[in-house]
Amino acid sequence: MFTNKKVIVGLTGSVASVKGLSLCLALRHCGFQVRVAMTRSASKFVTPLTLSAVSTERAYTDLWEMQDAQAGEVHMEWASWAEAIVIAPCTASCLADLSHGLYNNPVTLLASNMKCNRWFIAPAMSQNMWEQPAVIENVSRIKSWGATFLGPKGGSVASGGQGQRMLEPNEIATYLNAITSEKGE
Ligand SMILES: Cc1cc2nc3c(=O)[nH]c(=O)nc-3n(C[C@H](O)[C@H](O)[C@H](O)COP(=O)(O)O)c2cc1C
Repeated sequence: MFTNKKVIVGLTGSVASVKGLSLCLALRHCGFQVRVAMTRSASKFVTPLTLSAVSTERAYTDLWEMQDAQAGEVHMEWASWAEAIVIAPCTASCLADLSHGLYNNPVTLLASNMKCNRWFIAPAMSQNMWEQPAVIENVSRIKSWGATFLGPKGGSVASGGQGQRMLEPNEIATYLNAITSEKGE
């Protein structure tokens, strides 16, 4: 699927977004070119500047900044550049956005311009959130459209309670690297 190994990493508003830096580094280590998009909530946990430093372009947090006088609509260029978007961590809120076609931040806007079979989603949330009927339905809907879910893994979370943890950056990078040679549409 990844003949050119070009991937967008999308970060959303979970504490696990601090793993975004390691994820970008792990993907680069596997030979991927990486661009980063974030939600405003993700930027509460990790700065765009940090993510910009480990990707090939600036990390966007505002879709209205993804417009360039020379380059035009940056999100369109990014969506055609990338072979996949990895949303890691993916919040319950982002799952709802994707499930219902709400594309009002850089992460979902980019996803909306890519086929669903190019979406790789690594959720992270509390156990209570994960068991909400809305979340269960949203996961099921998004899966039915061809997206791939990576994890989550049950266990203790940063807040101290039990929850569904984002897969580790190395596990995500290894998975994506392993499907590098597979053919996609
Ligand atoms: C400290 C803190 C931690 C949070 N952790 C999570 C989380 O792990 N998973 C989740 O789905 N939402 C979490 N939330 C809630 C999301 O940040 C919130 O729903 C937000 O609107 C998500 O926006 P986004 O999906 O656009 O990033 C957390 C909120 C706070 C304040």
